[in-house]
Amino acid sequence: MIINKSISLIGFMGCGKSTVSQKLAKALQINCIDTDGLIEITEGQSIREIFSTRGESYFREREKNVLLSLLEEPKPSVLALGGGTPCFHNNMKHILDLSVAIYLEVSPQTLVKRLEKERDKRPLLKNQNNLLEYIENTLSIRNPIYKKAHYTINGEQDLNIIVEEIKEIIQGKNKYDMQLAAFLLNILEYNYEINDLIIKRLNQQKEQLTERTILLMNHVLNAQHIWNSRLRGIESTFETWQIHDLNNWETINEENYKTSIQIVEGFPMDEEVIYTNSKNQKFTNKIKDIIYHIVNHSTYHRAQITSIAKENGVEPLSSDYIFYKR
Ligand code: S3P
Repeated sequence: MIINKSISLIGFMGCGKSTVSQKLAKALQINCIDTDGLIEITEGQSIREIFSTRGESYFREREKNVLLSLLEEPKPSVLALGGGTPCFHNNMKHILDLSVAIYLEVSPQTLVKRLEKERDKRPLLKNQNNLLEYIENTLSIRNPIYKKAHYTINGEQDLNIIVEEIKEIIQGKNKYDMQLAAFLLNILEYNYEINDLIIKRLNQQKEQLTERTILLMNHVLNAQHIWNSRLRGIESTFETWQIHDLNNWETINEENYKTSIQIVEGFPMDEEVIYTNSKNQKFTNKIKDIIYHIVNHSTYHRAQITSIAKENGVEPLSSDYIFYKR
């Protein structure tokens, strides 16, 4: 199985993140990293000691940094996160953006049973007289955050069943990612080929081209270039209504296509990008929606080009997707 993203296991102390992560990592043949363990090694102190000598906010800062560096690692791993990790700073957003988040949900009553004997190891539980009340109160704050995970699993089940359920999720997700990418590549190819045919046809009709046709075809090319640049997080070198020399249209179309393909092949399609439009307004969209928009937007303007051709008595090209697929 090809794993292209880390898997973050989240949930309350005692929900089984460490045990599940080790067995899951073995099954998936990838590394298993425990964030608390990593903090203890780098700090040379146990979590309990860090809490008592440096305080909780110091620990939360270290926890955030360790989390970010792990999420940014290109090599995927199973990450067993500390119980509080998703609930501090902006951590949950990063966990959701950069990994597959799985919440191991366990009832407060079961957590009490599992944690009763471990109070001394856990700084947040040490002075709690009523463990059930503490867990219920803390969970009422944390659960809305934990529940944002991509998937929630019943953490009270047998360990083997939990691991199997997660494996099924990852397999299904891989399949979904591959099918989505294949579909987007397919519509990008349609977009490229139809543009190419239209450009070749317009080249043959150079003398009869209306100003509006020229403007619309340039706009189709510019828009794809601009969206590609936004997706790559770079400044676009084209303006929305810029006019290019007719001799360059084919090359621009080809370059646009190649860049869009690289984006689909190189980025997770469900991920969001933040960009600013021509009026300097900020927006956020998923990559897959932007790719679909590129094609849909081109179809809209190609239809206008077709209308102009019909009005002028010029034989238009059939650019429907279904014609292309026949
Ligand atoms: C904490 C959970 C612990 C550890 C620290 C704080 C929390 O991790 O990070 O004691 O805030 O819930 P585990 O969930 O791995 O025990």
